[in-house]
Amino acid sequence: MKIKFKLHVLEKIREMKNLSNKFYVTTPIYYPSGKFHIGTAYTTVLADSMRRYHQLKGEDTYMLTGTDEHGQKIQEIAEKNGKAPKEYVDEMAQLAKELWAKMGVQYDDFIQTTEERHTKIVQKIFDKFMEQGDIYKGEYEGWYCVPCETYFTETQLVEGKCPDCGREVKLMKEEAYFFNMKKYVDRLIKYYDEHPDFIKPAFRKNEMINNFIKPGLEDLCVTRTSFDWGIKVLKDPKHVIYVWLDALTNYLTALGYMSDDDTLFKKYWPADLQIVGKDIARFHLIYWPIFLMALDLPLPKTILVHNWIMMKDGKMSKSKGNVIYPETLIDRYGLDPTRYFLLREMPVNQDGIFSPEAFVERYNFDLCNDLSNLLNRTVSMVNKYFEGNVPGYNGTPNQADKELEDYSTDKIKKFEEKLNEYEIANALQEIWDLIARTNKYIDETMPWTLAKEEKTEELKSSMYHLIENLRKIAILIKPFMTDTANNILRQIGVKDVDSIRWNDIYAYDSLKDMKVIEKGEPIFMRLKVDEEVEYLKSVMKKD
Ligand code: MSP
Repeated sequence: MKIKFKLHVLEKIREMKNLSNKFYVTTPIYYPSGKFHIGTAYTTVLADSMRRYHQLKGEDTYMLTGTDEHGQKIQEIAEKNGKAPKEYVDEMAQLAKELWAKMGVQYDDFIQTTEERHTKIVQKIFDKFMEQGDIYKGEYEGWYCVPCETYFTETQLVEGKCPDCGREVKLMKEEAYFFNMKKYVDRLIKYYDEHPDFIKPAFRKNEMINNFIKPGLEDLCVTRTSFDWGIKVLKDPKHVIYVWLDALTNYLTALGYMSDDDTLFKKYWPADLQIVGKDIARFHLIYWPIFLMALDLPLPKTILVHNWIMMKDGKMSKSKGNVIYPETLIDRYGLDPTRYFLLREMPVNQDGIFSPEAFVERYNFDLCNDLSNLLNRTVSMVNKYFEGNVPGYNGTPNQADKELEDYSTDKIKKFEEKLNEYEIANALQEIWDLIARTNKYIDETMPWTLAKEEKTEELKSSMYHLIENLRKIAILIKPFMTDTANNILRQIGVKDVDSIRWNDIYAYDSLKDMKVIEKGEPIFMRLKVDEEVEYLKSVMKKD
């Protein structure tokens, strides 16, 4: 009794602490270049899952995404499509919103960088940097990569080509404004050292230092005159502001920074988590913190850099005919398997690979064999042996039950540790370990034998533990696969699935008066491997 009381108090304290917490997560805004392949959807689905996890914990969460709409590349694409740039980017923003709706991404705000609430503030920020002497006027000559919208020095080129995308670069010279990066370099390195949580995974810090800072960080050219689709410098309007200085500040402008109403900014800044792919790590780990230092603002708590989803034959590209779109997977297999695959197949610090075989295998093994069967077997046994009534906890677990309880507690703890480190694929692995262990428990306890031998108390305990673990598993998967989690909860008899919170996961003896549904419905049906692999290969070729 004493122990129970203590636990209860601790949980309350944890709950109160969580309630006072806030969680602001952002994803980079996108180049609206047409359709988004599953790689570009990864960052935002990951952010959505983290947000749902913190929401489940009762925290006050806020998620931002949007579209990055300025620059020469967009001007060119719009022209090719016979459209004015603004008309084109608005259409693309609409497509992005439709994709997020389809992918179950719940954001609080979607910002377009062509919106006035953004452009006006970017001009103010530019002026502030000028007044402070962080930005000065000079002349720029360098090798420019149009698709990447980035200048490179001679030494940065790889075999004379763009070091990022490998395409042709051209020598260009223009009058330009520069941001004095050198002034902030030492402060940045000191910040990296004193804030080990700032960059995750940690090896990206060394990458920044060795590849960009040690060779000598150049001042950054922050204006262009060769095109005009951008935010104009107020006092020198033939210059437009460099797309990265423009786009990065969206994380602030969306919250009303420097505007008449900065309530959200006061409440949510600094961001708790900003998620970006490895290709844009440099901008977020070097330039972005320096801009924030120059604005005298606190830096985000963590910037998570993830690797890429690749195909067996390298990068996804239309010309290779190996592109896979999220809509294709969702339309045929559903939202949750698509989200599960994306998050499960990508270790944080290594590239993940999409292949039709791997997708079908994950579906059949993880979702169908492991998860769906566990639910089905359990629901049908509770129906068979107890007319659907879930037995209560008798408080005296036998050896097998106790082992399962300890295993579950340990896995939940590990899951939290991995997720707090943003190791999503590893956190999912912890859940699937628990699913496997719970399936094994059925084979160990052999409820059918207990029934035959009329060991009713043991049979009750076995059913209780199975349902209890399914409840825990459902809570664990909820941030990633919400519909599946709710479906499991409903099938085992939880009445109000929306009221479930993270802290419910620790409880035992919470299954009072529950009745499983009369006839369990398989949540995932086995796929025919050859047929589906063939299907996926054919759609990948077509596009
Ligand atoms: N517009 C910039 C971001 C500006 S932030 C102020 C941009 N857009 S993007 O559309 O090219 O990329 C969007 C996100 O998708 C980035 O995080 C990028 O790293 C990520 N990915 C693009 N291809 C990817 C894969 N193949 N796999 C995983 N993520 C990938 O960058």
